[in-house]
Amino acid sequence: MSTTIPALAEAVDLSDPEDIVDAMMHRAPLALPGDDTPWEMYRALRDQAPIFKSRHGVTVVTRYRDCLATLRHPTMDLGFRMRADAAAGVVAAQLMAPTMLYFEDPVDTMRQRRLMRGAFTRQAVVHRQPELDALVDDVLARCAEMGSFDFMNDFADHIPVAVMCSVLGVPREDVPIFRDWTRRSAPATGAVVNEDDAKDIELAFVGLRDYMTGLVAERRKAPGEHDLLSVMIRASEGDEAVLSSEELIALAIFALSAGSDTTTQLVTSAAYTLSRFPAEQAKLRADRALMPDALEEMIRHSGPVHYAQPRLVMERPLQLDGYEVPVGDVVWTSVPGANRDPEQFPDPDTVDFERRDIRHLGFSQGMHLCIGAMLARLEATTVMNRFLDWFSAYEVTEDQIDYVDFGTMRGIRTLNMTTQRA
Ligand code: HEM
Repeated sequence: MSTTIPALAEAVDLSDPEDIVDAMMHRAPLALPGDDTPWEMYRALRDQAPIFKSRHGVTVVTRYRDCLATLRHPTMDLGFRMRADAAAGVVAAQLMAPTMLYFEDPVDTMRQRRLMRGAFTRQAVVHRQPELDALVDDVLARCAEMGSFDFMNDFADHIPVAVMCSVLGVPREDVPIFRDWTRRSAPATGAVVNEDDAKDIELAFVGLRDYMTGLVAERRKAPGEHDLLSVMIRASEGDEAVLSSEELIALAIFALSAGSDTTTQLVTSAAYTLSRFPAEQAKLRADRALMPDALEEMIRHSGPVHYAQPRLVMERPLQLDGYEVPVGDVVWTSVPGANRDPEQFPDPDTVDFERRDIRHLGFSQGMHLCIGAMLARLEATTVMNRFLDWFSAYEVTEDQIDYVDFGTMRGIRTLNMTTQRA
């Protein structure tokens, strides 16, 4: 692959690791056009300086083995404060502080993770299959009537937020407003947030907080059996309470946002990847048993999350291939850089559904391993299988994909397509 993507060459000096890191932190590079653009940046950094301490004081790692070692090391998660735009970061950070700040402390992280874990185990997740099938088919029926539609906005975007609302116990009729709030709050962690977005982010967070506060009050009077909100409410009551009221609200909002745009973008990028690699799509259509591996391969190749949160090294120095990161230093792992490291994945820019042993870092690793991975996989498998069932062929009609920099995540703005009914 060439290193002359024009938009990238204009925005970043690829021969200068310092400029690459500066762009990653402050110049919203995920919004640049070009399907593989950010990966060119990670590759340039990995080739020239795989362990690079920038003038910002942050050590950035782009090789698989270094990323894995970092994520498995005792560290403190610094939340999104390092990269976030100051103005929008403050609004979001204030409202999310009860969760985000506690996530920094490993003991609090484990306490909060334990509370959420029950809702995302394999057992809890498989029970959702019938509900998920019905939801997906309902939305696909509407898309099929349209014939040509936007996979992202007309289809994918309707599924994960509805699932997360169901997990939390938010009434079905309120799903559309949640969809709106999660979309508007997503750019909060962006490298660059303009003034209009900042206002929108604030309104969205205030809306979420006020709604959740009301719903918690209702559920305290009439608790549900299994919904995550009722489980967390029980943990916040009585002398043995292990969760404060502020944490409860923030954690509910965090779970909702962690599980919505990520999964929407995962399936949107999967649909786009299948159109870019038609031979792999044909293999998958011929043998659906390949779907779980195909999804892992697509997460490895172009998963939505581009940055794990920066980590503060704790307890003992972090040893990376003869290089020592001292306790107290901050390390930033490039998840997609690791996922296309040729040392770990031969021919990394190619999507290959027969690739074996795809231990990608798309759901992170170690203490902050994605809690929702099992549910995200179930949703993605269902969405992609049913989409291929409904349509025997499809063609993406965008001249060029318009990407959004959501801070930690790269998003596809629209994925217009024409389809052929099966
Ligand atoms: C049902 C959907 C999902 C839910 C409920 C969910 C929930 C969460 C939660 C609660 C965390 C924080 C864990 C912690 O810090 O201890 C997390 C982390 C993470 N999630 Fe998910 N997630 C979902 C989908 C996804 C998807 C689709 C991806 C990407 C393919 C993803 C990638 C990640 C990554 C990379 C992290 C770790 C970030 C880091 O290490 O700093 N998640 N997720």
